[in-house]
Amino acid sequence: MSSPMATTVPTKVLLSDLVSSFVEYVPSNYIRPASDRPDLLNVETSDTTIPIVDLQGLAGTNRSRVVEEIGIACENDGFFQVTNHGIPKDVIEGMLRVAKEFFHLPESERLKSYSDDPAKTTRLSTSFNVKTEKASSWRDYLRLHCYPLENFVDEWPCNPPCFRQVVAEYCKNARELVLRLLEAISESLELEGDYMVKALGKQAQHMAINYYPPCPQPELTYGLPGHKDPNAITILLQDGVPGLQVLRKGKWVTVNPDPDTLVINIGDMIQVLSNDRFKSVLHRVVVSKTSERISVPTFYCPSPDALIKPAEVVVEKGHPPIYRSFTYAEYYEKFWNQGLQSASWLDVFKAT
Ligand code: OGA
Ligand code: NI
Repeated sequence: MSSPMATTVPTKVLLSDLVSSFVEYVPSNYIRPASDRPDLLNVETSDTTIPIVDLQGLAGTNRSRVVEEIGIACENDGFFQVTNHGIPKDVIEGMLRVAKEFFHLPESERLKSYSDDPAKTTRLSTSFNVKTEKASSWRDYLRLHCYPLENFVDEWPCNPPCFRQVVAEYCKNARELVLRLLEAISESLELEGDYMVKALGKQAQHMAINYYPPCPQPELTYGLPGHKDPNAITILLQDGVPGLQVLRKGKWVTVNPDPDTLVINIGDMIQVLSNDRFKSVLHRVVVSKTSERISVPTFYCPSPDALIKPAEVVVEKGHPPIYRSFTYAEYYEKFWNQGLQSASWLDVFKAT
């Protein structure tokens, strides 16, 4: 199938402002090579999706059973959904509403937050890394640092007027959930409950607000190509539009959005701390022909100077350390500069 080439491509910084000019086809810089396209018909959509863990029991007498379920999910899938996660419905709905309102603001208002400098702690950008990548991704995103909140909240967008207050409330709740999950994950590895939190040093919490506009040819491009998250653990809030796919037993599986659940995934740093017992798993985002999609991942990260290495207790149990120790800054730089692709950057940090 051949696509007509645009003779003049309007220069727009953000994809959201470009899409209205391309109603029938995607511009050539978004088209992936034929060997790297979503193959949308070859995706599992059955109910055999990632495990669902009910966190209700975490506070009571069933704690050890829930901890075990979380451990099994981290080991087998690297991804799971949680119900009864403790973040109030109005906080979740508010977060999704203000995200949508932000991306529907006039171009001139949104562009006040634009920057292609990844060192900026608050910035609106597009694709993944516009400075280094070959093919662009069908996404705009606002990235915010959010812990400690008071260090960053004053640089966040102030339009919509309730943005800072609503997003701050979501961030506080997301952090509480992460801390409960990190404790359970530590226990499931038979580590002290505070092991993971201590291993992450001062800790950092980043958030992306991803906006995936409707796309005329979803079969040619990605919202985000296959990647593993470089951080410790991610909590994903998604609106009602499907798009996230996870690689499970060699097949891409759609994670259907459910308003009552959040998606949790293990990042590369917990894979290292667990000495490969828990898996950081490939996932990707495909886009829709008819619907825009919003997702809000919270990335919980080590502080840049945290020294990451397999936990001694895990290693002592007869499993030699698979990785050497390294700082998160060292790892993250590699990740950012090389860009999103299927290769694992962890290979570089293997013990010799
Ligand atoms: C990410 C990611 C998934 C989504 O931002 O790292 O995997 O559904 N997002 O947007
Ligand atoms: Ni991701």
